[in-house]
Amino acid sequence: MGCGRQGSGKYSTLDGTPLPLFARQRAASRSSLRRLLCLGIVVFSLLNALTWHSLLHHQSIASNERMLALRAAPGAPLMTHGEALEAMYPWSADRVPLSHNHSRPCTQQHTILIVADMDRDSRNGSVWESSLRRGSLCLLLNGSYTVDWLDEVPLRSTLNQGGRGMELSTLTWFSGKLLACDDRTGVVYHILGGHPHPEVILADGDGSTAGKGFKCEWASVRHGQLYLGSVGREMTNARNEVLHRNSQYVKVIDSSGSVQHLNWTAQYEALRAAANTSRPGYLWHEAAVWDDLHDRWLFWPRKESREAYNPKDDESRGSNLILTASGSAFETVHYARAGEHIMNRGFSSVKLLPHAPDIAIALRTEEVDGRVASFVCVVHTNGTVLMTDTFIADRKYEGIEVAV
Ligand SMILES: *[C@@H]1O[C@H](CO)[C@@H](O)[C@H](O)[C@H]1NC(C)=O
Ligand SMILES: *[C@@H]1O[C@H](CO)[C@@H](O)[C@H](O)[C@H]1NC(C)=O
Ligand SMILES: *[C@@H]1O[C@H](CO)[C@@H](O)[C@H](O)[C@H]1NC(C)=O
Ligand SMILES: *[C@@H]1O[C@H](CO)[C@@H](O)[C@H](O)[C@H]1NC(C)=O
Ligand SMILES: *[C@@H]1O[C@H](CO)[C@@H](O)[C@H](O)[C@H]1NC(C)=O
Ligand SMILES: *[C@@H]1O[C@H](CO)[C@@H](O)[C@H](O)[C@H]1NC(C)=O
Repeated sequence: MGCGRQGSGKYSTLDGTPLPLFARQRAASRSSLRRLLCLGIVVFSLLNALTWHSLLHHQSIASNERMLALRAAPGAPLMTHGEALEAMYPWSADRVPLSHNHSRPCTQQHTILIVADMDRDSRNGSVWESSLRRGSLCLLLNGSYTVDWLDEVPLRSTLNQGGRGMELSTLTWFSGKLLACDDRTGVVYHILGGHPHPEVILADGDGSTAGKGFKCEWASVRHGQLYLGSVGREMTNARNEVLHRNSQYVKVIDSSGSVQHLNWTAQYEALRAAANTSRPGYLWHEAAVWDDLHDRWLFWPRKESREAYNPKDDESRGSNLILTASGSAFETVHYARAGEHIMNRGFSSVKLLPHAPDIAIALRTEEVDGRVASFVCVVHTNGTVLMTDTFIADRKYEGIEVAV
């Protein structure tokens, strides 16, 4: 009858390995009765009742109405598993890999997405490329976590500045959209259907003097607004004299797309003071997240140093610090350390888990002598490690988002 036919297509590999494909739930809304019957069989045999419920909900709203609704309202605060799938695959893709391995003994499963920053390797002729990889996070009965990687799709754009582009370094669900920011152009992309759609351009510094794109490195939603930050360190010359402080600005986007430019010099200096890395030392940030439960910011630095910056030594100044900052100017800063301090490795993205807001999933990156690698870990905000660094690939992934 053709129900179980395994498709093969460009969206069916991970690291070159072909993946089994399954009929997409959404296909029912626009295809024949026969496909509807097939879909029912596939759905009931493969998916649990919860997924079926969200599927019905999705199909009940026409896509146009839904797009308008997104623009008018802030949208749901959390990405669903179905929305993660919609970010990766076009409407026309009827067959996609399954989201979870249901034979794993998990008490919780979350879809996770990560996005790549391939630096100069992003360029392929006149196209710039990143990629979006999907995984499944599993909480085991004994309280530890594992991750399975499921599939990966390329994200391509022709937008660039000076020959660089699509160096995506953040991934955040905001206002009903999956957003990723390019740290070269400062373009915030809306990722939908496997394509990056330019949404907002962020100017560097105070927004009116720098004349270039913002070097966005972290992003988090706080009180219905999207905060995007940079590395938080002043730019210096070879004699360690300060050239400018553009990287200490933070951009705040509201759901209508308007941008504010905030001077966060005081906040970044407070973090530095607490870590004993005030000038000439420094912290370098790529991972931060707002903790709504405790009304505080969490900063997980990529680098920490008590000595002045230089590009060579910087490679082995990785950090395992978790800084928690409260108060409008970060009047109170505490710290913990996450597991082992591996000098070449530091945090490049972090998100709190929807079912356990004191537990974070984080990406850690190594970048030494031109060799790069990424790892994923799960850590309690007090520093207790629940999943040790698990190798992902010899590639830099700098943004992570978690679905409910
Ligand atoms: C799914 O999980 C089971 C049990 O842990 C494992 O044996 C199997 O290899 C997994 N399948 C895939 C496709 O990862
Ligand atoms: C570059 O783009 C071409 C055409 O889309 C594609 O066939 C090729 O695989 C790409 N190369 C890399 C290294 O991604
Ligand atoms: C939990 O169980 C898994 C799989 O059996 C095992 O690999 C892991 O080490 C266990 N964790 C703890 C903290 O015991
Ligand atoms: C930014 O804030 C710092 C610390 O509060 C202050 O010293 C500095 O003058 C401010 N920069 C600008 C351009 O206003
Ligand atoms: C900073 O120095 C103080 C005083 O020596 C010490 O108590 C604190 O633990 C240090 N902080 C870090 C992050 O190492
Ligand atoms: C961190 O929190 C966990 C869970 O609440 C707890 O079991 C552990 O003892 C705490 N560790 C520290 C160092 O406070």
